[in-house]
Order: sequence, then structure tokens, then C-alpha cells
Amino acid sequence: MNQSRLVCLVLVSLVWQCPVFYSSPVTTGPDTSSQNDVDCPSSCALAFPNSTSTTKDTVDQEGLNMTSRKLNPKFYEASRAGHAIQHYINTIYSSPFRLYTVTQIHNARTEDMGESGMKYFLEFSVKDIVGESSEGRCSAEVLYPRGETQHPPQVQCSCDGLPRVNTSDKEQAFYQQYSANSNAVTVNNLPDSHGHMEPDMVPFWHLGCLAASFVMLNESNENTLYNMAQVSKLKQLKSEDDQLNFEYEVLLHEMVSQEIIRWKLLITWSPAKSVKVLESVLLPRCRCN
Ligand SMILES: *[C@@H]1O[C@H](CO)[C@@H](O)[C@H](O)[C@H]1NC(C)=O
Ligand SMILES: *[C@@H]1O[C@H](CO)[C@@H](O)[C@H](O)[C@H]1NC(C)=O
Ligand SMILES: *[C@@H]1O[C@H](CO)[C@@H](O)[C@H](O)[C@H]1NC(C)=O
Ligand SMILES: *[C@@H]1O[C@H](CO)[C@@H](O)[C@H](O)[C@H]1NC(C)=O
Repeated sequence: MNQSRLVCLVLVSLVWQCPVFYSSPVTTGPDTSSQNDVDCPSSCALAFPNSTSTTKDTVDQEGLNMTSRKLNPKFYEASRAGHAIQHYINTIYSSPFRLYTVTQIHNARTEDMGESGMKYFLEFSVKDIVGESSEGRCSAEVLYPRGETQHPPQVQCSCDGLPRVNTSDKEQAFYQQYSANSNAVTVNNLPDSHGHMEPDMVPFWHLGCLAASFVMLNESNENTLYNMAQVSKLKQLKSEDDQLNFEYEVLLHEMVSQEIIRWKLLITWSPAKSVKVLESVLLPRCRCN
């Protein structure tokens, strides 16, 4: 692994505050590039380095029965469930000025639920990295259903006070600024291939991360680990019914297969109704140059 690249990417993600945390996938996937690949809309500057780690969680079976397993909270299996929880929390509580990230997992275990699937129990800390809130402590259960077809993990989460900074003034100002359609935004590559973003574009990046969380949660299973890589295209559409309307194209990095996956998302947002994903379309896979 190229360490300087990793450090650089970690810094970029710290600067731009899309919830990302790093962990070691179990395997690096096979080369899945196919004839159908198209060039990515950008240079995939934020594509993450290949993982060289094949670390499988070391299991401490002590005191547990056959169906239950304690996980190392720092390892891949726990952090994968942590990602699903983070996406879940963001789909419910986030805004262009508030994005939650799981900062640390304290305890993790699984329990095989037979036909209904594999359940993960996590205790973790979470904070709003945009509003720079304090940390809150939560616990959650994540059930990955079994079966041939993709079913999103079912997440149940409880927190003793999810930290929340009041961002209603910022949200109102953002809404007012962009609800006048004369200001309609069209922009590519947030952040750009050097990791830069204009300050007034940052809320659009957060909105893209938030919208992508709906898809990342929906597409997650025990063999995936998604992170947001880039907003490759953003076009504001005509506002309707007091909602801002956007068409996003986002690049997601799937760490297990090392693929960059593109989705087109039609979303609405307003301070009152928050984010809704009206349409999500998987686009042809792209190839990073
Ligand atoms: C990742 O792995 C693929 C295939 O194994 C290789 O072609 C590519 O150059 C690697 N990328 C990086 C950033 O190391
Ligand atoms: C296994 O252990 C877990 C946790 O201690 C417990 O909740 C569960 O009921 C046990 N399952 C069986 C089949 O004994
Ligand atoms: C947030 O702040 C606004 C104005 O600054 C205030 O009107 C509103 O009641 C506050 N909301 C909460 C939940 O504290
Ligand atoms: C989630 O997946 C279901 C089934 O594939 C699909 O109908 C739904 O539109 C998806 N939602 C999002 C936000 O991608």
C-alpha cells in the first residue's frame, strides 16, 4: 500500500468531513473490470488505495456459545456494521450542516439468528463532524438478512442523547439562497482531483454524502463496505412544492471489491422535510485512470 497516498486521502477526508473511517477488508476482490466499463467522469482522485490486508477477525470465543461471537471492535467485521449504522443515523438525523460519523466502536459481537440472518451488536461513540458536536454514546443492532437477493441490513439504534448542534439558521439561509431559481447550481467534481472545494459548495457535498447514505445502506450486506468518494456531477433542478430539487451523480468506493460505483440520484431537500431520495439509478461501472 502506498502510505503517502493513504495519508493524503485521510487528510482530504478530514478536511471535507464526509464520514469515512478506515478499516481492513477481508479480501481484495478479483479484477472485475469488464468490457462495459466507461471512463470515470473524473480522474477518481479520491479513489482509495487498495488494501493489502487480509486480516480476518481473531475471535475470542471465551464465555460465548456456538452461535455468538465476540469481535475485535477495531477490525473489519465490526467496522462494516459500524458503517451500516452510520448510514442509518445519517438518513434520519443529518442535514447539509450535520453529518454523523461513528468515531469509535467499543464493543462488538455477532449472533447467528439462523434463517433470519446474522445479527451484530455494537456499542460505539458518534459525533456530528460538521457541527463539531460532542460525542454521544450509542448501542445498535444490525441484522443482515440471509438470502439470494439483496436486502438492506435492518438497524435499530438507541443513544443516550445523540449530540445535536442547532443548525436551523444555516439551513434556512441555504434554502433561501438556492430556492430562488436564478441561482441554480451546476457543478462537477466535489471535491476536485486536488481535493479542493469552494466553501459555498461544501453544503452540497454534505447533501451528496447524506443522499448517498440512503443508497449505501440499501446496498449493504455482509460482503460490502461502501464509502462516499466524490460527487461527480450536481445539477439543481426547478424547485417544486417548497422543496429544492437536485440531480446528483455520486461515486461510491466499495472497499471489498475495490470498485468505484456510480449512482444517479434525484433528491429533494428542505429544512422542514429534510432529504428524500426520489429515484436512484445504478450507472455503468467506471474505470479510474
Ligand atoms: C489496485 O489494484 C489493481 C488490480 O489489483 C491495480 O491495477 C491498481 O493499480 C491498484 N491501485 C492502487 C491505487 O494501488
Ligand atoms: C448464545 O449466547 C447469547 C449471548 O450470551 C444468548 O443471547 C443466546 O441466547 C445464546 N444462544 C443459545 C442458542 O444458547
Ligand atoms: C434553533 O435556533 C433557532 C434560532 O436561532 C430557534 O428559533 C430554534 O427554536 C432553535 N431550535 C432548537 C431545537 O433549539
Ligand atoms: C432500495 O432498494 C429497493 C429494492 O431494490 C429499491 O426499490 C429502492 O428504490 C432503493 N432505495 C434507494 C434509496 O436506493
